[in-house]
Amino acid sequence: MSNTHADALVFFGATGDLAYKKIFPSLQAMIRRGKLDVPVIGVAKAGWNLEQFRARAKDSVEKHGGLDAEAFAKLISLLRYVDGDYQSPETFQAIRKELGEAKRPAHYLAIPPILFETVVKQLAQSHCGEGARVIVEKPFGHDLASAQELNKVLLSVFDESNIFRIDHYLGKRPVNNLLAFRFANAFVESFWNRNYIESVQITMAEDFGVQGRGVFYDQTGAIRDVVQNHLFQVLSNLAMEPPVRLDSDSIRNEKVKVLQAVAPISSGDLVRGQFRGYLEEQGVAKDSQTETFAALRIEINSWRWKGVPFYIRAGKHMPVTSTEVVVRFNQPPSVLADGTAIENHLRFRISPEVTIAMGMMSLAPDAEGLVLQPTEMIASRSPHADEMDAYERVLGAAMAGDSSFFARQDYVEEAWRIIEPVLKEGTPVYAYEPGTWGPNEMARVTPPAGWSDPKAHEKPV
Ligand code: BG6
Repeated sequence: MSNTHADALVFFGATGDLAYKKIFPSLQAMIRRGKLDVPVIGVAKAGWNLEQFRARAKDSVEKHGGLDAEAFAKLISLLRYVDGDYQSPETFQAIRKELGEAKRPAHYLAIPPILFETVVKQLAQSHCGEGARVIVEKPFGHDLASAQELNKVLLSVFDESNIFRIDHYLGKRPVNNLLAFRFANAFVESFWNRNYIESVQITMAEDFGVQGRGVFYDQTGAIRDVVQNHLFQVLSNLAMEPPVRLDSDSIRNEKVKVLQAVAPISSGDLVRGQFRGYLEEQGVAKDSQTETFAALRIEINSWRWKGVPFYIRAGKHMPVTSTEVVVRFNQPPSVLADGTAIENHLRFRISPEVTIAMGMMSLAPDAEGLVLQPTEMIASRSPHADEMDAYERVLGAAMAGDSSFFARQDYVEEAWRIIEPVLKEGTPVYAYEPGTWGPNEMARVTPPAGWSDPKAHEKPV
């Protein structure tokens, strides 16, 4: 089944937020690039008809990226809509009817995981699941047991090669570019290990809050929302060994090995924070202990990385919006430094601009003698105007049957194994002021020479 193009797309949760913000704009973009020419069937229980559904699609693309007249007209011609309850067999009979001749539909579950079982069972009973693949959203499960349970439900109808677990960070080019940097440049291998690297830090900062997603966020928190998935994927790309082949399983095998080498996080290696004002957000429990910020320290017990700390921090209401990786090198036995702190690093800015920078010391131009100052050699660019959005990329890959951009079940389970014990411990949640870099208590989870805070903007050179 894999590597064959799906011949219809059914998306559940078609009137929801994800469809509105991401799915319609991605579908229009796929059409514009000539990558989508199959029926697209939206399913929801909203009491809508096809006209209302089309109006929603129009509103969505207008608000998110802009309407492309030609591509949108095509999208309108591909759209179908089924209104109905997920519990009801009639809904699925209607889907079956809309599927017509389609033999390899892709079912995209853009719905809360609690509904997966109902939908998957109905798909099977109505024969909509035959020859089909399923696309699901992160977070995949709430902990290890629920992830395994969800998987059991999916595997009862679909085999692993037909399950596509979306982590849209895998659709981001700069995240994948970490692999190009590491494995397409001969010079990198010589220093990419514990002998030269002192620490690695990954920051995902967002200068906004929960944006009306209080109910979802309060059940999720920063660790489940972005660390266990997005940032672990970044970590895996930084730490994995070169894949022996380029097929999706060879790549994913290496990623799983990274997580296998990580012990569960201890409470001393985690600081959780919550921005002041979070408890007043709609949908948030008044006494919520959910973190909107997390900083953690990870060790990878592998030949390459033993002894090198990896730090991850993620937060809402930070001073800027940016995702950045800083790889710091060991201090040189400098005969020149004379006490000056040496800053040697590689910096990978993943968003909003895309940058690779090498931090080095040089002589200060405006001082006589051996006065050193840090400087950066920067290769940077703004995202291309026509750059594919991460959602478009992953959705396109799922439709094409390419699993490389998706999390495999063993990976998801390893990620929960690492994170779950400390989440269940319920470590303290410290308050921080919006617009700051997290709570004061985070000193114990801070890299040796401190966190490197991403700048708001980087001027492309
Ligand atoms: C989502 C999270 O998966 O990723 C959000 O649920 C987060 O909370 C978003 O804001 C960030 O994605 P991006 O692509 O804007 O970095």
